[in-house]
Amino acid sequence: MPCIPKNIIDKYIKNVSLDALLSIIENAESPEAVKDCLREDMDVDVFLDNFDEPINSVVLEVGSHDEPVANILADAGYKVIGVDLRHYDKNLPNCNYEFIQSDFNSLPNEFIKINLGNIDSIFSLSAIEHFGLGTYLEHYHAYYDVLATRQMWNLLKVGGTAYITVPFGNKFIEFVPHWRIYDMKSLQERVIQDFQVEEMLFFFSGETDFDGKLATTGQVVTKEEAMQYSGRLPHLTVFLKLRKISISRFSSL
Ligand SMILES: C[S@@+](CC[C@H](N)C(=O)[O-])C[C@H]1O[C@@H](n2cnc3c(N)ncnc32)[C@H](O)[C@@H]1O
Repeated sequence: MPCIPKNIIDKYIKNVSLDALLSIIENAESPEAVKDCLREDMDVDVFLDNFDEPINSVVLEVGSHDEPVANILADAGYKVIGVDLRHYDKNLPNCNYEFIQSDFNSLPNEFIKINLGNIDSIFSLSAIEHFGLGTYLEHYHAYYDVLATRQMWNLLKVGGTAYITVPFGNKFIEFVPHWRIYDMKSLQERVIQDFQVEEMLFFFSGETDFDGKLATTGQVVTKEEAMQYSGRLPHLTVFLKLRKISISRFSSL
């Protein structure tokens, strides 16, 4: 059973101040534009629908800019930590969680010492496909997404959950400096790695022509259909719910 009701985004939009709303998305034109953006964010919708962790547990968000999920979970009683490369003003009225401005792959030593193997769950929405590609003016690093999911593995406790969304298509493509699109092989090797897959859902992040028919935003497709999709915009997104069931088979090497 999901802990967070689906209409939570609407509730959040209703209660939050206009200033706080504008601060969520960098360079947003108006509060109305931010509201539309949040309502149409299918990753958030699918994540909240599938998020199933005990209240009070420790939740880490990787790439926490541009949506209010960390706030929503903190309001609901979770101990939330957000990590993002970009600056976020902790004094803003909507920042009710612990925010760390850092490259997720080189977190401060102090943080690693305390949290290694101790985090209950981690989520990352539309973020790791950008890692290391220079989208945010960082240096190019071909395997930064691989390192990020390994970092998630290391931080999670055994039994912990990782919730991840990335774009999906019929072949692996790296559009420097924008994003990667994963196919089944690269999804396994670069993202899933040693995790056990508990849920894998494919859905459209926008309206598009699919197989000669109009696919609507959020429309779910089968794995077989997803594996045929060219990867063009708007993306097909894959949502993964992953479990760390044991220590890595490579960890003793
Ligand atoms: C496309 S945004 C997605 C943000 C948000 N989760 C959403 O769904 O709208 C990707 C985010 O990942 C962050 N990011 C990129 N590389 C990072 C890194 N190495 N470490 C931490 N955050 C990173 C960016 O700053 C950006 O906020």
